[in-house]
Amino acid sequence: MITRRGFLRLVGGSAFAMVSLGAYAVGIEPMLLTHVKRYTLTPPHWPAGLKLRVVALADIHACRPWMTPERIASLAEEANALQPDVIVLLGDYTAGTKLVTGWVRVAEWADALSGLKAPLGVFSILGNHDWWTDSLAQRAEAGPTASRKALEDVGIPVMENDVVRLEKDGRGFWIAGLADQLALLPNKAKGRDSFQGFDDLDGTLAKVQGSDPIILLAHEPDIFTKVPWRVSLTLSGHTHGGQVRMFGYSPVVPSAYGNRFAYGHVVESDRNLIVSGGLGFSILPVRFGVRPEILQIDLG
Ligand SMILES: [Fe+2]
Repeated sequence: MITRRGFLRLVGGSAFAMVSLGAYAVGIEPMLLTHVKRYTLTPPHWPAGLKLRVVALADIHACRPWMTPERIASLAEEANALQPDVIVLLGDYTAGTKLVTGWVRVAEWADALSGLKAPLGVFSILGNHDWWTDSLAQRAEAGPTASRKALEDVGIPVMENDVVRLEKDGRGFWIAGLADQLALLPNKAKGRDSFQGFDDLDGTLAKVQGSDPIILLAHEPDIFTKVPWRVSLTLSGHTHGGQVRMFGYSPVVPSAYGNRFAYGHVVESDRNLIVSGGLGFSILPVRFGVRPEILQIDLG
């Protein structure tokens, strides 16, 4: 039997705990606890002597109050401070939730990203939200999306089934960027009952010449089941680690493979995938157990 006072204390205590947890998941973890997630690896058939630092930003989802242009600009400074050789952006720049107090225009977030600097350059791919928030592109069933144009306007190349060869200390490597796998929304009127992607993995990899290693950028990790061993490392975002993750398990993951590609470094059949937990939100402005992260990957 519990006394009235005890009951009130219990109820009050749990209510306080609930409110604090809510404040943590909505306010503190998403906004304040951005951290640098570091990986060091030598992927299969990575050439000896090629030491490369890749910094990646994923799922920015610009919107107020969660991801303002000011915050994006400060994330860009944090990324620069890691002294990367190359910076890659893994897609989903536009808002992923309607629970916002204001929108951020494409030109505003692109301008904030224009502060990114790395000796070998900054390269980007698009994500599903860059397509889904672009009603003109949906209607036309084709790009260029507003996100693509905004990134190009600030001098950041956007790779949709494209490759670029870079060199560090006389050693070459390729960055391959895949077009989005969920670009077009289902549309009954157009006879499309599921998402349609523009990704062309084979066509993209066919543009690679020679035997230099390849880093593949693919917003959604699900493509990983089809990525050949020839690719040294695949980098993805999109899942946000489920946004809520406990004991290495995410209850909700936007992937056909559930927790298999939800978060972190995945090695399958000697092939390597790193999935970033990303920086922003989609659907609900909540994060728990998956702090916003900037990826720093040291290869060599
Ligand atoms: Fe996404």
